[in-house]
Amino acid sequence: MEITFLLNGETRSVEVSDPTQSVLDWLRAEGLTGTKEGCNEGDCGACSVIVTDDGGAKPLNACLMIMPHLHGRALRTVEGIAGPDGALHPVQQAMVDHHGSQCGFCTPGFIASMAAAHLNGRTDHDDLLAGNLCRCTGYAPIIRAAKAAEAAPAPEWMRDTPIQLHEISSGGEWSAGPEGGRQPPFLPESSDALAAWYAAHPDATLIAGATDVGLWVTKQLRELKTVAFLNNCKDLQVIEETGDSFIVGAGVTIAALRTAISDSHPAFAELLRRFASEQVRQAATIGGNIANGSPIGDSPPALIAMGAELTLRKGDTRRTIPLEAFFLEYGKQDRAPGEFVESVTIPKSAPDLACYKLSKRFDQDISAVCGALNIPRDGETITAPRIAFGGMAGIPKRAAALEVALDGQPFTEAAIMAALPALEQDFTPLSDMRASDAYRMEAAKAMLIRYVREAQGETSILEVQP
Ligand SMILES: Cc1cc2nc3c(=O)[nH]c(=O)nc-3n(C[C@H](O)[C@H](O)[C@H](O)COP(=O)(O)OP(=O)(O)OC[C@H]3O[C@@H](n4cnc5c(N)ncnc54)[C@H](O)[C@@H]3O)c2cc1C
Ligand code: FES
Ligand code: FES
Repeated sequence: MEITFLLNGETRSVEVSDPTQSVLDWLRAEGLTGTKEGCNEGDCGACSVIVTDDGGAKPLNACLMIMPHLHGRALRTVEGIAGPDGALHPVQQAMVDHHGSQCGFCTPGFIASMAAAHLNGRTDHDDLLAGNLCRCTGYAPIIRAAKAAEAAPAPEWMRDTPIQLHEISSGGEWSAGPEGGRQPPFLPESSDALAAWYAAHPDATLIAGATDVGLWVTKQLRELKTVAFLNNCKDLQVIEETGDSFIVGAGVTIAALRTAISDSHPAFAELLRRFASEQVRQAATIGGNIANGSPIGDSPPALIAMGAELTLRKGDTRRTIPLEAFFLEYGKQDRAPGEFVESVTIPKSAPDLACYKLSKRFDQDISAVCGALNIPRDGETITAPRIAFGGMAGIPKRAAALEVALDGQPFTEAAIMAALPALEQDFTPLSDMRASDAYRMEAAKAMLIRYVREAQGETSILEVQP
């Protein structure tokens, strides 16, 4: 199939013969070698590029993007960040002025992330650059450069406009490929088109942000025969408001969700700030974070603790289940062949929710334990608590025995301490490279103590300054 996109301001149409070729591999084969390959798994940011679509300009990792993702979007690589006359972009000039580069391997990736932030007027540089690793310069000069460039206006040449999909002939079409061989990718433009096609091709692999699926290709060298890309299904990228809830489409990215709920769900939004890096958050979807069934995904514990419901769709048939019922056992979810995640419904606010992510690094790391504690009180009496953990079992799971032990108890540290042994009935955690079983259990219990102390006004450890 042919895809069409803007590359550094020029329209390009490319025949895609390998439906899972990464954008990074394609760029480098094209001679655009400014975009570097470091880890090839989304961790280092050396491959950062800027992609513009209807949602605006965003930094993304080219190693996790697959060629059909580009269809209808505008791609800007480090080769397209200086002006057409060679004038340096303000962030490039600032990196020179502030000595932000030594060996230079990481620099194109930093420049792409910084230029995207500059274009969007973002100044939360620590968060935005947490997905770019530098092994020799150190981060202080780079952050100084990002700050120094803040006031300069964004150059005109950086303002890309995505191509309108209806102008492109190949989007949304499906043609059968060779029998038993690899099929051309399917790029539906609506959830209806996806539903009809997936019901007819239940063995296909759905690709949303590809922050998991990309690694199947680059690291496990898996060959995916039949694939559909969800990123052009605009109706899956909507957050709908009803009387008392938000219905979050499966295609809403973690970055978009974080922005949308920052006032209504501050604890969940803060958890999402620590989800991977900006490049991954801009690609990863909430649907993918649920559908992958990971025991250590960050959003499921928080969603379960809020009482979220999941809507699944096969063809024209929909069903809605409590989110916790979706996770059956490690690697097994309640999802039929040809059925996909359409949306997740959350209450409009969750004032008693706290989310604690414990990982070896603060940024860009997977949780060892992720606790989501929603403990409402009637006066000083705990009523109907909902507590869920990731990293404590083969699935994200509610702490059912602990909830029973806490329900009706006074909201005091002593009462919570007395209930904590119930957590051992709920979970038998594993030891792995992230944490030992004993550490996980101890850390999960400590989260309950932290919750009560914070509710009583004790300063969060995150606010402790040296
Ligand atoms: C560097 C890095 C850091 C990461 N850090 C974190 C982290 O801090 N916290 C965390 O939770 N995760 C993290 N992840 C994992 C990953 O980003 C998330 O799981 C992400 O939400 C997956 O979403 P996606 O849209 O990229 O899914 P994809 O990779 O596109 O798909 C994942 C799976 O879900 C399926 N799928 C996708 N959408 C649907 C749908 N609508 N219906 C049915 N099936 C669907 C796919 O077929 C596939 O099986 C990280 C990944 C990387 C590479
Ligand atoms: S090469 Fe490291 S994030 Fe892409
Ligand atoms: S300048 Fe060498 S890795 Fe950053």
